[in-house]
Amino acid sequence: MRIIRSVPAMAAWSGALHREGVAIGLVPTMGALHAGHRALIRRARLSCDAVVVSLFVNPRQFGSGEDFFRYPRQARADAALCRTEGVDVLFMPSREAMYQRGFQTSVAVRNLARRWEGERRPGHFDGVATVVTKLLSLVRPGTAFFGQKDFQQSVLVRRLVEDLNLGADIVVCPTVRDHDGLALSSRNQYLTPPQRRAAPVLYEALQAGRTAILRGIRFGLEVTGAMRKVIATEPRMRVDYLAVCNPETLEPLARVTKTAVLLGAARLGRVRLIDNLVVKM
Ligand code: PAJ
Repeated sequence: MRIIRSVPAMAAWSGALHREGVAIGLVPTMGALHAGHRALIRRARLSCDAVVVSLFVNPRQFGSGEDFFRYPRQARADAALCRTEGVDVLFMPSREAMYQRGFQTSVAVRNLARRWEGERRPGHFDGVATVVTKLLSLVRPGTAFFGQKDFQQSVLVRRLVEDLNLGADIVVCPTVRDHDGLALSSRNQYLTPPQRRAAPVLYEALQAGRTAILRGIRFGLEVTGAMRKVIATEPRMRVDYLAVCNPETLEPLARVTKTAVLLGAARLGRVRLIDNLVVKM
């Protein structure tokens, strides 16, 4: 496995493979890799000739009061995981390499970034859209792999790639969960043992929402009510939002008619959890 830190070296590597017609797969990450990231890497390994994993804790997608400085950084362990999984290139640029002197461009996806995570984390999705645009233009993968765990991000990335003709296929892989249903996340490391025990309640709430829909409840408000009732059983958990949405536009649904996505975000102390569930009727 090659570790590349410089932007010109990354561009040269992918340029050379392009000329040979090699199908490149890209898995963008912020590191602290876990089995969710591993599933994306394995999926990329299956369908691409060469796999690039990027590891960059992107300062532009963190708000000023957020956890940029304490975000888990474990490059050695991450490199070992990538090596084991047969990754060809681990791209680990520095902040200065990605945002060179004089950098002033930002990519904004309008409507999709307004609600939910975008509303609670102003600027977050501009940071995501900007870095993903940069990574796709640098690596020029045939396919890029994202997780359903960050549902809004995956919808926004699809939109971005189509709008800017970035020319990559976007594959969204299912959420990998712990034994008790908690969606794996690098931020789960912040949970204290009692918080960790409480954390699966968010997924249980989403499941209750799904059950309600499958039993014939159609009004969005009734479905969110069913989800809220479950969260209320865990006094440590504070809801940020629970919503029943159109999976393409992410607009809330007054009535569920076909496919819906249940989106949830909640806090345990200072740790913020997000999760989602797609319900097909
Ligand atoms: P990060 O949180 O490191 O996640 C990298 C990728 O792994 C994302 O596509 C995310 O959705 C996926 N992922 C995370 N947890 C997962 C799980 N439990 N199951 C399946 N996939 C999971 O998301 C980001 O980084 C950044 O915003 C990034 C896209 C890299 C841009 O900076």
